[in-house]
Amino acid sequence: MDNFTYCAPTRYIFGRDTEKETGKMMAATGCRKVLVVSGGGSARRSGLLDRVFATLDEAGIEYLELTGVKPNPTDDRVYEGIGIVRSNGIDGLLAVGGGSVIDTAKAIAGGACYEGDFWDFWAGKAVMEKALPIGVVLTIPAAGSEGSGNSVITKIEGMRKISLRTDFALRPKFAILNPELTFSLPPEQTAAGIADMMAHIMERYFSPTSDVETTDRVCEGVLMAIIAEAPKVMADPEDYQARANIMWAGTLAHNGVCGCGRREDWTSHGLEHELSALYGVTHGAGLAVVFPAWMTFMASHKPEKIAQLGRRVFGIEDADDKGAALKAVDALRGFFRSIGLPLTLGELGVEDPDLETLSRKFHENKGTPFGPYYPLQPVDTMAVYRLMR
Ligand code: NZQ
Ligand code: ZN
Repeated sequence: MDNFTYCAPTRYIFGRDTEKETGKMMAATGCRKVLVVSGGGSARRSGLLDRVFATLDEAGIEYLELTGVKPNPTDDRVYEGIGIVRSNGIDGLLAVGGGSVIDTAKAIAGGACYEGDFWDFWAGKAVMEKALPIGVVLTIPAAGSEGSGNSVITKIEGMRKISLRTDFALRPKFAILNPELTFSLPPEQTAAGIADMMAHIMERYFSPTSDVETTDRVCEGVLMAIIAEAPKVMADPEDYQARANIMWAGTLAHNGVCGCGRREDWTSHGLEHELSALYGVTHGAGLAVVFPAWMTFMASHKPEKIAQLGRRVFGIEDADDKGAALKAVDALRGFFRSIGLPLTLGELGVEDPDLETLSRKFHENKGTPFGPYYPLQPVDTMAVYRLMR
């Protein structure tokens, strides 16, 4: 196990009706005038935004709105938000939505405290030290941004989708998690969210660091809970207990606890971000295609940890690592299929993928070779993308 520091200071407020706490929590962070960021309309249609505004009014907090943030959010909305913050004396951000909304709010929160171009942080030209306080009302368990220090933004120029990882600056001060707010999710978004949270665990599980048994067992336990609860939410979107378990799993998957004491991989996310950037696919659905392909490649190159996942999570009994790893891939694909996720680029809607551009951009953004678990050279990256067809 490696040395590590773990600090996840977000206050989670979990359960029915918890959005009633929003105004009070925002006031507790010291904010007096906030920018409320939301997506394409689901939070307005459900009445959630109005309920949240009422709590802000009650707490004496003024607010302005930035609406219409789209999935795979882009830099233009971040610049717009920074402009609103600066010209209106805004002192905090409130994100009401999913990863795209939260990540936009985070980028605004960091960018507004920096004199240069906010993209400097994503481009690796500056290190983010501070940001305005961020609060979250989560409506989809998926990206885990409610507990992470990360923000993923696409720069329209060059369509570069980059994940910025900060230790503390971008961790939300609080996150309101009411499972009932997820009842309205369409099945394809529920399923994509499940694939994404499983991927967040596996990116940490497939590590080159050995002897991390406690963290491994945390990962395996959360994965097994997701696999058990997922069919229930797919069968009955209003099953509160199953929604609650999936929601908490999504947060635990990505708030750092599954990575303690080891190097993390994140190759599959890098491969998927290129698909989202080039073809606009839903992040979690893209991961359902990418992850099994990457695991299939690893079955022939470094099967041990894939085999361990197969044995411990899916009950595979093969003694041979390569055989167990390949069966783990089959089991994972079978699970993804059972909740309606795509398994190939074609099923994802990418009929004629430009594998060379995907591979080139992956290495431009991540370096060459890339892959802490097993370093991919461009020829390997092409091979992994080919396994997605
Ligand atoms: O925009 P609205 O109308 O709200 O609709 C959204 C959107 O179309 C809909 N939705 C959300 N809550 C709903 C709902 N529809 C009905 N009822 C509800 N309760 O769901 C759609 C997807 O929303 P989005 O925010 O894009 O989903 P997600 O949370 O999956 O976020 C994806 C983004 O997060 C990034 C991804 O790359 C992608 O850009 N990630 C961020 C991470 C982080 N910051 O730590 C880590 C992840 O690995 C990921 O890369
Ligand atoms: Zn993800």
